[in-house]
Amino acid sequence: MSAWPDRRILDLLGVELPILQAPMAGASGSAMAIAVGNAGGLGALPCAMLGEEQVRAEIETFRKACHGPLNLNFFCHRPPPPDPERERRWKQALQPYYHELGVDFGAPTPISDRAPFDERSCRWVETLRPEVVSFHFGLPQAQLLQRVKATGAKVLSSATTVEEAIWLQAHGCDAVIAMGYEAGGHRGMFLTEDITTQIGTFALVPQIVDAVTIPVIAAGGIGDHRGLAAALTLGASAAQIGTAYLFTPEAKVSPAHRQALDTASASDTALTNLFTGRPARGINNRIMRELGPMSDFAPRFPLAGGALMPLRAISEPQRSADFSNLWSGQGLRLCRHLSAGELTRQLAERALGVIRR
Ligand SMILES: Cc1cc2nc3c(=O)[nH]c(=O)nc-3n(C[C@H](O)[C@H](O)[C@H](O)COP(=O)(O)O)c2cc1C
Repeated sequence: MSAWPDRRILDLLGVELPILQAPMAGASGSAMAIAVGNAGGLGALPCAMLGEEQVRAEIETFRKACHGPLNLNFFCHRPPPPDPERERRWKQALQPYYHELGVDFGAPTPISDRAPFDERSCRWVETLRPEVVSFHFGLPQAQLLQRVKATGAKVLSSATTVEEAIWLQAHGCDAVIAMGYEAGGHRGMFLTEDITTQIGTFALVPQIVDAVTIPVIAAGGIGDHRGLAAALTLGASAAQIGTAYLFTPEAKVSPAHRQALDTASASDTALTNLFTGRPARGINNRIMRELGPMSDFAPRFPLAGGALMPLRAISEPQRSADFSNLWSGQGLRLCRHLSAGELTRQLAERALGVIRR
C-alpha cells in the first residue's frame, strides 16, 4: 500500500511523490526537471519563452537522464491588439530611467514575446509526446485542446478562484492547480482581471476540493514540508511548488535575483504588472516602488516588458535588479538551499512524518 493517503495524482500522472515542480519560464529547464523526476516528483519544462529547437533539445536531455513522466507547460493568453497610445505612455513613464542610464530613448522599442499555445506548439506536443501538458491562463481553443488530449497527455491548468476551477473541469482538465494568492510568478487568472478576487491558498484549496470532482493540486506559499502536509490535509492530492525550487542550484536565476531571494523578508513581495502587463508576484524593487507595483500605463501582456529591455540590458550586467522581475512567492523565507533532488525527497519524507504523527 502506498504511504500517501491520496493516490489520485500519483496514479493519474505516474509519479511516486505528490510533488510537482512548478514550470518556471526563464527560471527552470531540463536540469531541474531531471533532478525532480529522478527523485520521484513530476519534472516540468516551461515552453513559453523557448523556440522549437530549444524545446526539442531540452526534452532530449530530459529523456536521456530520466525515465519519469514530463510536464510540458504553455501559456494560453490571447496576444493583445496593438495599442500604440498605451505603449507611448508607458515608454514616456520610463523616460527618466532611459536618461539616467544613457539609453537612446528614440530607438525602436524591442518586442517582448511570450508565445501562446498555438498550432505550432500543438504539433510539438503531438510529436514529442509529453505525458503531461499544463497550461497557464486558462486553456487553448477547443480544437487544439482536443488534439492534445488525443495524444494521451494528461491536461492540467491553474485556477485562482472556485469559478475558474469549475470552468477548467467543465472544459476537460484532468486535474486542477489551485493557485493561491501567495504564489510566485504570474497569476494564472483567466476569467477575471480583478485582483481583488484572488484568494489565499488555505481558503482556496478546500473550496475548490468541494466544488470539483477532479484531483486538486495546491500551489502558493508551500515552502517546506509543513506546507505540503497542510495542503494534503486540506484535500489536495498533491502540491505544485515553485519558489522553493528557485533556491536550488538547478534554478536559472541571475545573481541579482538570487541575492534578492536570499535577503528579502516575507513581507517584501507584491503583485505587479510592470514587467509583462499581467499581475505576477515578485520581490519589491526600485521600479515597483517608484511606478507601481500595479500601473494603468503598463501595456497588456506580454508587451510591457519590451520598453524595459534596454534598461535591463544596462543594469543587469552591473548586478542591479532595479528594472528586472524578481519573481518569488510569499513563502520565500521558508526555503532552504538544497539540490532540487534533495529538496523533493526531503519535502516528501518530512511531510509524511507530519501526516503520520
Ligand atoms: C519564477 C517563477 C516563474 C513561473 N513561471 C511559470 C510558468 O512559466 N508557467 C506556469 O504555469 N507557472 C509559472 N509560475 C507559477 C508556478 O507554476 C506556481 O504556481 C507557483 O510558483 C506556486 O507558488 P510558490 O512559488 O509559492 O511555490 C512561475 C512561478 C515562479 C516563482
